[in-house]
Amino acid sequence: MLDGKRIGFLGGGNMAEALLRGLAKNCGSVQLGVSDPRKDRVSELATQYGAKTESDNRALVDWADVVVLAVKPQIAAEVLAEVSDCDSSPLLVSVAAGLTTGFLENALGGAAHVVRAMPNTPALVGAGATAICSGTHASDSDMETARLLFDAVGITEVVKESQMNAVTGLSGSGPAYVFLVLDALSDAGVKMGLPRATALRLAAQTMLGSAKLLMETNGHPGALKDMVTSPGGTTIAGVHALEAGGLRTTLINAVEAAAHRAEELGNRE
Ligand SMILES: NC(=O)c1ccc[n+]([C@@H]2O[C@H](COP(=O)([O-])OP(=O)(O)OC[C@H]3O[C@@H](n4cnc5c(N)ncnc54)[C@H](OP(=O)(O)O)[C@@H]3O)[C@@H](O)[C@H]2O)c1
Repeated sequence: MLDGKRIGFLGGGNMAEALLRGLAKNCGSVQLGVSDPRKDRVSELATQYGAKTESDNRALVDWADVVVLAVKPQIAAEVLAEVSDCDSSPLLVSVAAGLTTGFLENALGGAAHVVRAMPNTPALVGAGATAICSGTHASDSDMETARLLFDAVGITEVVKESQMNAVTGLSGSGPAYVFLVLDALSDAGVKMGLPRATALRLAAQTMLGSAKLLMETNGHPGALKDMVTSPGGTTIAGVHALEAGGLRTTLINAVEAAAHRAEELGNRE
């Protein structure tokens, strides 16, 4: 469904580049375009991903079938005001954190087709987790287009907009939690006598491999944990220490706190 579509990026920063890379690699027939105030940046993206460059945001919007809003949330209103009276009205897919579909629709004049997305940083290496939700006027076909766009850099889940703060608390902020855990595991390896680099590689591959095992077998994490805990063995001793330290409660608290913070920030809109 992305075949032959013209996908234009307003803003050519990190998230835009992740998507450009994924689309160039996995969706050969799409046409890519980008506009950004930094001319050197635009030429770099053009060379690297075969993207057409546009001199200004309005020209990009008039060219595109799908526009990805990939600027910082603080300047989104200004950029949308600039393009709100363009001749064409392509589907707008926003990755701007915290901006609601209502805000985006209002900024574009009401009847715009809008999809809101919350990707995460592993999209930069093609392993992102993105949640998308529909604006009032977006069709099923618009949602499918957005889903395919984010599938190019990982996996995509469709949620209700009321669930977006939970997504922010879980997968949006999640990479930071995982990096804390990896740093701690690496410290633990060092404490028990391993060289730092060895400890970090073993910890990271254990995290990656366990997630892969879960996803590829469609397994339950509890059942997969049971597979490595033999009676009276080493792993159950480690699991006991984690439970005594309140690992599960701490992680639940972290997601809850981040989701509440996302809600607070959203209420300031
Ligand atoms: N990075 C992530 O992992 C991530 C995850 C989830 C959501 N997001 C969302 O993705 C969006 C982009 O984030 P990012 O990390 O990619 O930021 P970024 O690297 O700063 O990219 C934003 C780009 O927009 C450009 N820009 C500034 N003013 C513009 C204008 N008037 N018209 C067009 N482009 C303009 C910036 O240029 P200058 O540098 O010259 O200002 C910059 O190249 C944000 O809304 C963020 O909330 C990012």
